[in-house]
Amino acid sequence: MCGIVGYIGRQNAFPILTKGLHRLEYRGYDSAGVALLNQENELNIYKVKGRVSDLELFCEGKDISGHAGIAHTRWATHGEPNQANAHPHYSQSESLALIHNGIIENYTVLKTGLMQKGYTFQSETDTEVLVQLIEYIKTGNNVDIITAVRLALKQVVGAYAIAIIERQNPEFIIVARKSSPLVVGIGKDEFFIASDASPIIDHTDKVIYLEDEEIAVIHRDKAPQVLSLANVEKTPQTIQLEVSLSELEKGEYPHFMLKEIFEQPQTLRDCMRGRVNIDCNNLTLSGIIDHKERFLKARRIIILACGTSWHAGLIGEYLLEEFCRIPVEVEYSSEFRYRNPVIYPDDIVIAISQSGETADTLAAIELAKKAGAFVYGICNVVGSSIPRNTNSGSYTHVGVEIGVASTKAFTAQVLVLIMMAINIGKEKNTIPNEQYEHILSELNQIPEKIEAILEQNIIIEDLSKTFTYAHNFIYMGRGYSYPIAMEGALKLKEISYIHAEGYPAAEMKHGPIALIDQDMPVIVIATHDGTYEKMISNIQEIKARNGRILAIVNQSDNKVKNIADYVIEIPNTAECLSPLLSIIPLQLLSYHIAVKKGRDVDMPRNLAKSVTVE
Ligand code: M6R
Repeated sequence: MCGIVGYIGRQNAFPILTKGLHRLEYRGYDSAGVALLNQENELNIYKVKGRVSDLELFCEGKDISGHAGIAHTRWATHGEPNQANAHPHYSQSESLALIHNGIIENYTVLKTGLMQKGYTFQSETDTEVLVQLIEYIKTGNNVDIITAVRLALKQVVGAYAIAIIERQNPEFIIVARKSSPLVVGIGKDEFFIASDASPIIDHTDKVIYLEDEEIAVIHRDKAPQVLSLANVEKTPQTIQLEVSLSELEKGEYPHFMLKEIFEQPQTLRDCMRGRVNIDCNNLTLSGIIDHKERFLKARRIIILACGTSWHAGLIGEYLLEEFCRIPVEVEYSSEFRYRNPVIYPDDIVIAISQSGETADTLAAIELAKKAGAFVYGICNVVGSSIPRNTNSGSYTHVGVEIGVASTKAFTAQVLVLIMMAINIGKEKNTIPNEQYEHILSELNQIPEKIEAILEQNIIIEDLSKTFTYAHNFIYMGRGYSYPIAMEGALKLKEISYIHAEGYPAAEMKHGPIALIDQDMPVIVIATHDGTYEKMISNIQEIKARNGRILAIVNQSDNKVKNIADYVIEIPNTAECLSPLLSIIPLQLLSYHIAVKKGRDVDMPRNLAKSVTVE
């Protein structure tokens, strides 16, 4: 989704800003722009439809001098992706330039009012309304720019992270946030602004995360001044980032997605570190143990998430019901927040989000908190909004995930849910000791088993050629493999633009089987578990209708292999851990099909890495 970068210091701002925009490209965008304040106090804006590299080309031969500037990548919400709608936007007098992430919901009312006062607009965006409103308040009330920003934001309904630069005030940039992240990097006599930490890591590891409804004035050579919308001075907390630059580079891999798929043995080890102690047969999640009574008393668990994280949540439902005997409901955050749900004070809500910034999940959390529920976050991005707005939680610790299609974050979310279920189950005595020890010992072997699957990458790449013809795919699974069928299908559609659906295999007979013919690839996850024999019947039904079957089977399989057209073998493991293995070949298959089709795997069309608007 949209990205913000800003710089004020003694260096040339332009290369810092464009490098920062490149770092944010993974978030997804359709246009890019920059505003620079030069030594003559001229405020130059350059913007283009297209990539950051198009912006760099467009700026060649233009005045790109200046030691302060703001820059933006836009993912269109109001108005099509074109040059006029790209940010930054000037105010009417061209003395202010503003960039914005989020949505100003009441922009139509504000715009009508401004038009009646003689303001004209160059774009269809809600953002331009905000910059005009700030200028109108500044000139109309004869107040300084900081006050004008504060008063304007009090009139705004919606979500925003903004950065504003003023021609008459080259010594500072103003930033503010509400429900959309904003980070300020602290250098020596220079400051960096960004919508996430990735553009800042090149320059400093000291940052301040702005809180909701805070405004910060970022001066060139003094500490940021932070105010609330009510004009109360705040003392920001400086945080040390723990991200290494290599996490932001592809290294030897052609795409971040492939790199991230291959990182999974290590990311799962990192996720277990300090939590699973195989020598003592023990597993502890501090976020659970610190609130043990709450979990032991829980009448119900509600899992809230979107997209891939929701698929992890579905696996969580199977795990928590099996090992903790607590009823679980899994909800799309976007539906939950608008449907007047019943929430009890003794409910536990688990919010799952890689980015920690998903707008719908954040809003659903607020609703749950208001009803008195205890909210547990499972997030990847340290310091993001969800961990800061939940009562407790666990980080997935997979490092930065750049590929828009989530891979390593998904497996770590599933792993955290496995650890939660067996930790709570152990505390509640709802998991037999023998089973607990068996799962721990199998868990310990998961990274190696994933390594073994990754060794089949070339075979899977070869297999992918067989399927590039298809316009539709069906994925089928049962039990723990049903969410994996849905996740496999989502991975394929996100990056290859091929239509794919994941179904619980037994549901095929109730409708979808009508779609099966010799052109329909059917991917079945048929590992050895409680429903293996049933799955075989479902596979026979597909075969009887000439469907082309690719089956994910265990190495010990001797039945499905004889029916399916193609098979990929994965190692055996405990049933509840099978999602951690069965998803790996499906990630690789989607990746190779998308590459064969010439797709932009890391930045698929229309998608954003972090969905910060609803
Ligand atoms: O950051 P989150 O986990 O909250 O994001 C939720 C979804 O937007 C995300 O999982 C999306 O479906 C991914 N593109 C999946 O690959």
